[in-house]
Amino acid sequence: MQPPPVITIDGPTASGKGTIAQRVAAALGWHYLDSGALYRLVALRALETGTDPSDEAALARLAAELCPRFSDGRVELDGRDVSDEIRREDVGVMASRIAVHPRLREALLALQRGFRQPPGLVADGRDMGTVVFPDARLKVFLTASVEERAERRHKQLREKGFSGSIADLLQDLQARDARDSNRATAPLRPAEDARHLDSSDLSIEDVVAQVLRWHGEG
Ligand code: CDP
Repeated sequence: MQPPPVITIDGPTASGKGTIAQRVAAALGWHYLDSGALYRLVALRALETGTDPSDEAALARLAAELCPRFSDGRVELDGRDVSDEIRREDVGVMASRIAVHPRLREALLALQRGFRQPPGLVADGRDMGTVVFPDARLKVFLTASVEERAERRHKQLREKGFSGSIADLLQDLQARDARDSNRATAPLRPAEDARHLDSSDLSIEDVVAQVLRWHGEG
């Protein structure tokens, strides 16, 4: 039996992957995996338990014990709704710091692959097309200029009631890009067979339409 089809959408921070992936999943009636949320959940746990971000064994344990519940765009951890907390910028920064550890990444693999259910899955992250779902039928690498991404993230955080200057965000973004791209394990890079899409001057609707067109061609 063929495994359910997968579309992967990878790219740097604030490139719009999440929004695009959710809309493509909704348009197709497929499941959606926000893999970054899993790294953020481990990061939240690490912050709450005072775990040292360099303690790979302890972090891998936290990841292995992770039992989140996703429903209606919300996520619960041990019965507590942490959807907004995991979007905090300090949690995102911690997520990118701990995501360098191979054992932590390994501990999250089965959880991620478990989302591959009929009729199909749209997965967004950094290594969806390269490591987690290398057999995906369509792989998209979504980018946007760093200035555009800082603007988008600023707007997103403001809507959630968080504050912060664009200049600080720009710095955070650049540091995160560098860390995600230069780490030894599962670095941020396009899969060899990925389609590249620069969304700097495109609307959300344009990007969704392009991904669906590629899907239709496949
Ligand atoms: O929202 P944003 O794109 O900034 O981040 P995210 O997708 O929620 O992921 C947070 C962090 O988790 C990233 O900076 C990556 O370091 C890490 N991550 C990863 O290593 N692999 C993934 N598949 C997804 C996220």
